[in-house]
Amino acid sequence: MANQEEDLKSIVAHAKEYGFVFQSSEIYDGLSAVYDYGPLGCELKNNIKAYWWKSMVQMNENIVGLDSAIFMHPTTWKASGHTDAFNDPLIDNKDSKKRYRADVLIEEWVQKIEAKIDKEVNKAATRFGDSFNEAEFRSTNQRVLDNQQKIDEANNRFKTAMEAEDLAEVRQLIIDLDIADPVSGSRNWTEVRQFNLMFSTEMGSTAEGTSTIYLRPETAQGIFVNFLNVQKTSRMKIPFGIAQIGKAFRNEIIARQFIFRMREFEQMEMQFFVRPGDEMKWYEHWKEYRMKWHLALGIDSNKYKFHDHVKMAHYANAAADIEFNYPFGFKELEGIHSRTDFDLKKHQEFSGKKMQYFDPEINESYIPYVVETSIGLDRMFLAILADSLQNEQLEDGSSRVVMKIPYFLAPYKVAVMPLTKKDGLPEKAREIIDGLKGDFNCQYDEKDSIGKRYRRQDAIGTPFGITVDHQTLEDNTVTIRNRDTMQQERIAIEALYETINKACSLRNVL
Ligand code: GAP
Repeated sequence: MANQEEDLKSIVAHAKEYGFVFQSSEIYDGLSAVYDYGPLGCELKNNIKAYWWKSMVQMNENIVGLDSAIFMHPTTWKASGHTDAFNDPLIDNKDSKKRYRADVLIEEWVQKIEAKIDKEVNKAATRFGDSFNEAEFRSTNQRVLDNQQKIDEANNRFKTAMEAEDLAEVRQLIIDLDIADPVSGSRNWTEVRQFNLMFSTEMGSTAEGTSTIYLRPETAQGIFVNFLNVQKTSRMKIPFGIAQIGKAFRNEIIARQFIFRMREFEQMEMQFFVRPGDEMKWYEHWKEYRMKWHLALGIDSNKYKFHDHVKMAHYANAAADIEFNYPFGFKELEGIHSRTDFDLKKHQEFSGKKMQYFDPEINESYIPYVVETSIGLDRMFLAILADSLQNEQLEDGSSRVVMKIPYFLAPYKVAVMPLTKKDGLPEKAREIIDGLKGDFNCQYDEKDSIGKRYRRQDAIGTPFGITVDHQTLEDNTVTIRNRDTMQQERIAIEALYETINKACSLRNVL
């Protein structure tokens, strides 16, 4: 754990030092759980967005985009259930005065027991070697079965208590599971209370009368209320999807772990409208599609796993998370939800406007069912940072800090460096940049020794370093250095576009 905390600290420090992420309003000591993206951060963020947009919208004929407003009519949130049900059950520890989400305390307890089971399984796998049958072991070993039973009982009690809105029972469960405050070790808990996560503000002047409106807690509702506008204007036929990228706001109770849990964050969401009864087929399709999208980055597949929900959101009939192994363990990166016809039906009820689709293939009108994919852009950003930042030991005994960001996502693709600041080398370097900057984000760097400049580019993940030397002036060749292999080769300036494009194009991953 100590190491994991150190890992996160070094990611935060690196992100700040190189201009990826800053604490918001830092000169006023910061605003909790709100962050600003610096010059390199916004490049990386834009590249992640482009990857998502390309693969979700432009590569799928039946998905179109939307950019709806953050402010929506307040009845939207009444209809969607957020005004009444977008709550977190919170509990305080009387000794440490720390506040926790009751569901998270229980989830962490479950993860501990799961880890015990995994340990048991791994021990047996080592003991039995090739002859080990994991499925049989899990279904017959008494210790595994006892632990699994504990997990099932706790999950069931929690689910039943939440469904019955029985918060006293949730508190009792925490006590019965003997859960202690991770900070003080104390078991001195307050009652459990519900806390609404939406931020509100006023719209309109006093003379006109004001109304309370909310900062959207998810982008999805902008899609639902525009469902017919988009369907009709784009002549979409079911099944089809609407995608959008945008800000969302939640007054999170516990805001820690850097950009993992923020009060202002960005989502990339897609609502896929299907015929009622087809939703489970599409739910499986989108689970698989989204996992492939992640794995195409080339990050170790063991860092991802599915987690099926026990406690479903108020709108879902099936839900799974894609979890990523962050420095603080496996946590939700993306959610895939089968949202039924809940949202459209509610909007129809509250607005009095029909939210139905006429299906010419079956000659019937119905309210479509919806399968949603929803990923936090900031969580994706953190996953990339955490995976790519490495302190690499080199063969000569030295080490380097390198960000092995997938090439197509790297903020800069190329750094162009004149060997010296004279003899026309800077001019030649700028000429090369002029030829490349229409296609790739380039950086010009002439300060310090070439070795230092390479290290600086390694630290921000630039895939290629191009050095312009005196030979360049004679034969129009340069050396190009690869970030990962650190190999250098001499190539013609004319060949640069093709070399860089081949390595950095988004096409490679789609
Ligand atoms: N429309 C469905 C929805 O909003 P969610 O599971 O509450 O579902 C979707 O959120 C995704 O948004 C999460 O998987 C996560 O990546 C991201 N997310 C949620 N809350 C966040 C927060 N406070 N900070 C950063 N990202 C967050």
